[in-house]
Amino acid sequence: MTESHHDVLIIGGGAAGLALALEIADRRAVTLLQPTPDTRGASRWAQGGIAAVLSPSDDVDDHVADTLVAGDGLCDEAAVRFTVDQGPAAIAWLLSLGVPFTPDPDPSAGYPYHLTREGGHGARRIIHADDATGRAVIETLERHVGTHANITVRHDLSAIALIADTAGHCRGARCLDEASQLHVLMARDTVLATGGASGLYRHTTSPHPASGEGMMMAAELGAELMNLEFQQFHPTCLYDPQGAPFLISEAVRGEGGYLLGAGGERFMPNIDPRAELAPRDIVARAIDTEMQRNGLDHVWLDIRHLGEEAIRHHFPTIHAHCASRGLDLARTPIPVVPAAHYSCGGVSTDLSGATTVPRLYAIGEVACTGLHGANRMASNSLLECLAFARGCARHLAERHSDSTAPLIEHPQGTAPPSREMIAELGDALRNVMSARVAIVRSDAGLAEAARRLAELSERYTAHLARTAPDPDAASLWHALRLARLTVASARMRRESRGLHHNPDCPLHADAAPSPSRIYLSALEAS
Ligand code: SIN
Repeated sequence: MTESHHDVLIIGGGAAGLALALEIADRRAVTLLQPTPDTRGASRWAQGGIAAVLSPSDDVDDHVADTLVAGDGLCDEAAVRFTVDQGPAAIAWLLSLGVPFTPDPDPSAGYPYHLTREGGHGARRIIHADDATGRAVIETLERHVGTHANITVRHDLSAIALIADTAGHCRGARCLDEASQLHVLMARDTVLATGGASGLYRHTTSPHPASGEGMMMAAELGAELMNLEFQQFHPTCLYDPQGAPFLISEAVRGEGGYLLGAGGERFMPNIDPRAELAPRDIVARAIDTEMQRNGLDHVWLDIRHLGEEAIRHHFPTIHAHCASRGLDLARTPIPVVPAAHYSCGGVSTDLSGATTVPRLYAIGEVACTGLHGANRMASNSLLECLAFARGCARHLAERHSDSTAPLIEHPQGTAPPSREMIAELGDALRNVMSARVAIVRSDAGLAEAARRLAELSERYTAHLARTAPDPDAASLWHALRLARLTVASARMRRESRGLHHNPDCPLHADAAPSPSRIYLSALEAS
């Protein structure tokens, strides 16, 4: 075991973690944990772009209003306005760092970079780098982080738990290296930027999604979690049973793509006046219904009418990926299905990313800031990463607090973990969540999920709890407990709203709904 001392410890190296590191590093020393930079983290896979009010014909109030509508009555308006207000400055910052956003060749457009549209947005306000915006942003931020003298990046460590003291402060993190050796990283301030919880589901839009590890590490210290029942399914993941998960950006619909059902007919115009550009909860549910009603494995997305040249120009990554899977976007509709994409719930924070635990912060998808409410509007998430990373940096630059209270000890196991058991329980967990806690959830299905997840937790405790520290075993433990809290939150919400749709209570229950707040102690009660 090693013990080391750090100033600001950032756990997670996606858009939020990297942006915070850069913004705070001139004032405080940063240690950034970024376990496997090539694959992990959802930011890298974000295709569409970043929503911000950039066009002279757009308006901050309109972006706020669209976000509130998409969030189906559950957004915190102060968080929405805080985020939207910072859009133009955040984009100017990224441009100053050299993010290669796609220019608009049309001089009459009023803004030098191309702005696309996505579901729920009443205007063109998505700035993008072709159809691989996340990758362009991450690579640019990584380049700057890599050369900053006050930032140390550790690729070899995975955090498995946070360290608490008897005063209730967060004091750093316990980490494992690639040989499962324990490293205790003490920190003055600890920031979770660990991503969401889409990994609780079988089919996801990114290859290695997080499974809520950061949320549960915070909950173990007593942090409040919020809105866990609102898991977003992106309407259009490529249906490709033999291939890796691949997102088909909402920008394809933004540039005119149609969804086609069983008879090759559009079905969205009959469901919502915004048709294919309705908010994601509505589109994903409509696709799910179309598939259920007609016994389909997928529906189709048709963008042929845009023409081959425009398709190749706007969507080079998607075009190339589809071609590599034998599909020509310019000549045939492509098969698509909804897949788990984004967790609207997470660790509750204020506008500086502060959680309810002193000296613990959360930014990016792990956090629940109030911006998304019951359903996130497309491309608001990278904006949230930037806005809250910069807000958190301003806060951390001004405050230093110390605690010298004794640390709370962590018990440590010794036996080697069983890989088969980890794989079996993980599969069972994802099957339960996908079958019972997905786009539509019923009272009976949620009760069944609660029972099955409690059984899986018991099996975990019986077989794995005494094993040596192991990142996969720790991740599974966090995932099982978060899944149970998600089900508990879903059972508490006696209405359908946004991404939470329960036919046993199909309507809004309340004109002024409250977010659902939950603590780890709810598991003891269930
Ligand atoms: C997309 O390109 O459709 C994904 C972007 C997002 O989820 O905001």
